Amino acid sequence: MNAEGRSRLDQMPEWTALGKHREQLAEVHLRELFERDPARAERYTLQVGDLHLDYSKHLVTDETLGLLRELAAATGVAELRDAMFRGEKINITERRSVLHTALRAPGSAVIMSDGENVVPGVQHVLTRMGIFSDRVRSGDWKGHTGKRIKTVVNIGIGGSDLGPAMAYEALRAYTHRDMQFRFVSNVDGADLHEAVRDLDPAETLFIIASKTFTTIETITNATSAREWLLAGLGADGGEAVAKHFVALSTNAEKVAEFGIDTDNMFEFWDWVGGRYSFDSAIGLSLMVAIGPERFREMLAGFHLVDEHFRTAPPEENAPLLLGLLGIWYGNFWDAQSHAVLPYSHYLSKFTAYLQQLDMESNGKSVDRQGNRVGWQTGPVVWGTPGTNGQHAYYQLLHQGTKMIPADLIGFAEPVADLQPGLVAQHDLLMANLFAQGQALAFGKTPDEVRAEGVAEELVPHKTFPGNRPTTTILAGELSPSVLGQLIALYEHKVFVQGAVWNIDSFDQWGVELGKVLAKRVEPALTEGAEVPGLDASTAGLVAKYRELRGR
Ligand code: F6P
Repeated sequence: MNAEGRSRLDQMPEWTALGKHREQLAEVHLRELFERDPARAERYTLQVGDLHLDYSKHLVTDETLGLLRELAAATGVAELRDAMFRGEKINITERRSVLHTALRAPGSAVIMSDGENVVPGVQHVLTRMGIFSDRVRSGDWKGHTGKRIKTVVNIGIGGSDLGPAMAYEALRAYTHRDMQFRFVSNVDGADLHEAVRDLDPAETLFIIASKTFTTIETITNATSAREWLLAGLGADGGEAVAKHFVALSTNAEKVAEFGIDTDNMFEFWDWVGGRYSFDSAIGLSLMVAIGPERFREMLAGFHLVDEHFRTAPPEENAPLLLGLLGIWYGNFWDAQSHAVLPYSHYLSKFTAYLQQLDMESNGKSVDRQGNRVGWQTGPVVWGTPGTNGQHAYYQLLHQGTKMIPADLIGFAEPVADLQPGLVAQHDLLMANLFAQGQALAFGKTPDEVRAEGVAEELVPHKTFPGNRPTTTILAGELSPSVLGQLIALYEHKVFVQGAVWNIDSFDQWGVELGKVLAKRVEPALTEGAEVPGLDASTAGLVAKYRELRGR
């Protein structure tokens, strides 16, 4: 038993039962599971809002699913979920509530954190964001020289970049097409340089997005952007900065210190984690791009899945199911990674976004009480849009030695007003998605290969083992609401896994050490300063770097 009265995960009878059950399934093939149960595809399908989820191509039976749900019950997933929705401080190492669900709750909801209903504050900021977005979109917000804003540059990193950048791409068809939106995150000066080199400062608005407003990459880029702007305008501060810089942050003091008027700051709160923040003020660039109404539609999509997760029974609860399937493969089939493969060009940044959501949340190796865990936690999440991946790494998915469960995500309708020929291409795109799921699950037997007249020595090479699990997520079209639904689905999936693994999914201490060391090493690069305790390898690399730079 641990401090929360919970036994070690791998000593629970539910865990042991799953281990035994896994052995029984060792030789089972998906072909057989489908043959045995003609209703399998229908039975293993869920509808959540606009999302149609087919999980029939998983190496599971009713017994597996039952055992997984028992594990969820024994590990208190529902209790932790309810505590999260109630605003309890389930981020224990930072002693914070975890209330991203309040960001998309209806205005009438009452959600308490530290004795205060947080919903009116959320609605107030959303209203301010809406007014500001409308002003920029309509041209009413003027730059320092009186010109309207044509380009918005969001400067932020991690959760202050990935969400809006991903959603901007995803919802491109809904954006203000006469404006440009760019996203700068990397402290590599090339990022900002390429983003602004063809812009007119008089028509450019910078949105500085940083929860803490202390993140070195963001503050460095923001400072350089301010220099670029002032030099371009021939201005010396104050007025010009006020017209061309706004801040999204929880830290008014630092925003003011940077020189941005706090009237031009859109706030959020410490109970919003960075990687859960893009439906807070952090989404301002997206709201300017798609307009406040579309943004609210997206929030409604999030909320729909929040409510589903909160209230749906375990058998029909999609985030619970997806989370448990990940545990099934990661902990009982030794799967190390999870591929997310969207069949939509608009979702080109979706997997990169999920990498932070999943890997920063569940890349932990101590439990909530600080003990080293004795089981695998979060997977490596990766993937790019199909069909590009098919001509790159799918070979390994089909015939490699590793098990890589995958999500295939697609839409019935193309969104943008494409020319007719391009609309027709959509069927080809989706045919690829369906074909991949089929090939991964059922493969091609040696006999089937032989029946095609293939020479015997090539039969092993042309055989596809199949039995590679996928979830297919299908929706009508990639609308703002559907995007919100999809993201909330993954957020809660990650939550479920963290709850079962008994880790704190809401802190991110693992990113700190690198930050501290970078600060220590920098003077060695610039001034050749002695860094006490620098290891021989790093010292050698620093010396080589200085030599190459002629220092
Ligand atoms: O990389 C750590 C991290 O704190 C992320 O969790 C966060 O999204 C990112 O840095 C940016 O932080 P901030 O919004 O405070 O600049």
